[in-house]
Amino acid sequence: MIKNLFATHPIKAMPHVDAGEPVEGSAEGEVTLKRVLTARHLVMLGVGAVIGAGIFAITGTAAAQFAGPALILSFLIAAVACGLAGMCYAEFAAMLPVSGSAYSYSYATLGEVVAWFVGWALVLEYLFAASTVAVAWSGYFGELLRMLSSMTGLNFTLPAALSSAPLTFAEGGHTLVTTGALINLPAIIIVGAISWLCYMGITQSATVNAIIVAIKVSVILLFLIVMFNYINPDLWHPFIPANEGGSKFGWSGIYRGATLVFFAYIGFDAVSTAAGEAKNPQRDMPIGILGSLLLCTVLYVAMAAVMTGTTPFRMLNTPEPVATAINYVLGTVAAGSPSSYILGALKILVVFAALAGLSSVILVMLMGQPRIFYSMSRDGLLPQALGRLHTKHRTPYVGTIMVGVIASILAGLFPVDVLGDLVSMGTLLAFATVCIGVLVLRRTRPELPRAFRVPVPWLVCPLGAAACLFLFWQAFEVRWPLLVSWIVIGFLIYGFYGYRHSKLRQGAR
Ligand code: ALA
Repeated sequence: MIKNLFATHPIKAMPHVDAGEPVEGSAEGEVTLKRVLTARHLVMLGVGAVIGAGIFAITGTAAAQFAGPALILSFLIAAVACGLAGMCYAEFAAMLPVSGSAYSYSYATLGEVVAWFVGWALVLEYLFAASTVAVAWSGYFGELLRMLSSMTGLNFTLPAALSSAPLTFAEGGHTLVTTGALINLPAIIIVGAISWLCYMGITQSATVNAIIVAIKVSVILLFLIVMFNYINPDLWHPFIPANEGGSKFGWSGIYRGATLVFFAYIGFDAVSTAAGEAKNPQRDMPIGILGSLLLCTVLYVAMAAVMTGTTPFRMLNTPEPVATAINYVLGTVAAGSPSSYILGALKILVVFAALAGLSSVILVMLMGQPRIFYSMSRDGLLPQALGRLHTKHRTPYVGTIMVGVIASILAGLFPVDVLGDLVSMGTLLAFATVCIGVLVLRRTRPELPRAFRVPVPWLVCPLGAAACLFLFWQAFEVRWPLLVSWIVIGFLIYGFYGYRHSKLRQGAR
């Protein structure tokens, strides 16, 4: 029985796939996913999923409470962990161009029960990330309404009861309490609207994503160019402020900051869930995964340098640190001067860019989750309905609707911080497993053709796994009851459903 639990999904060398060819062993006449995505789409999907709440909402806390100006180092440390894992994802995604991402890679290497565990952890990454970012979106939407109200003199603002979470965790995150609010309506509406887009088709989703990404990257570049002129290098001294106890400043603060800003990098791996819809996955998956990661790393390090170089880092402790930095600089220029108008306009653009940025993160996450469920369902670990594709739109529509409904409920009821920690923990577990999986497959199936190979795998893979588990531990120490409960629920579902319906195990009986 134990052996069956660790049975691995057989993998064949994948022939070179091209647009229009069937995917994932589809039978003749069966509806399949559409192979329409190019390398450019894939890089855009990566950037779309990555730049969001991490940079627009979380960075300030990381600087003010943990790392100080050395936030730049926190970003670099998180980038190294992601880069190592990213190379492993690239090797797998080019070799196995299927939609299941880390779930499918684990099934092929470490066995069914590990694959289930990773698939279940990925629900934290995708579904919970969509909800977390929708809550941050609702916060920025409120900011936009406040700005509109003050510009026009009319009142556009929503009552707090309809725009914030009715539930929150108290007592160090162990007790659920009510806040007096009714529901977070904007968060529900954005998840609903984006789910509809995902239902309509991959081409529509990728096109909307590309437009949004162009907007947010342009505004970030504009922010960097304008704010560069106001950098005061004195604000970077001391670069690593002395430790003030716990993880506040010093090297321990830099590591804690790295765990926090890790959230900002999550999403480059979501590119791999589109492998079943890529025109030329063997060539384009590594470009999509590593290209988007590199682009985002450069932008993040530059943002961290500019924010801490223009604003005293202790003042960045707000939910909108990018706008806070602009406000601080605005306060230093003469009112009515051309600079004050430019900075005022930049602030408005940043709110729009944040809304756009957060929308594309929600979009890619809501696209990714049903595709992972699709793969799990085709393996028999989840009900068949989740593997059904829409005959016209060719999207996994049942999964898309189900994920949309659950993500809306979570976003409508819960606050951002607890959800965010769960997202990071789930993702880090998946990353570590993928790093180990690459090494295992190099040993068990060395002959498989690999369009992209991790360089020096004996070093890169263990280092990648260790770096991810190190960051995982920082959050797990605080949030372990929630994560352990999640894992127990997952194994109960596997025991009652997946274990009995697994196609691989049925074939083995
Ligand atoms: N990386 C994504 C964000 O920062 C999840 O919103």
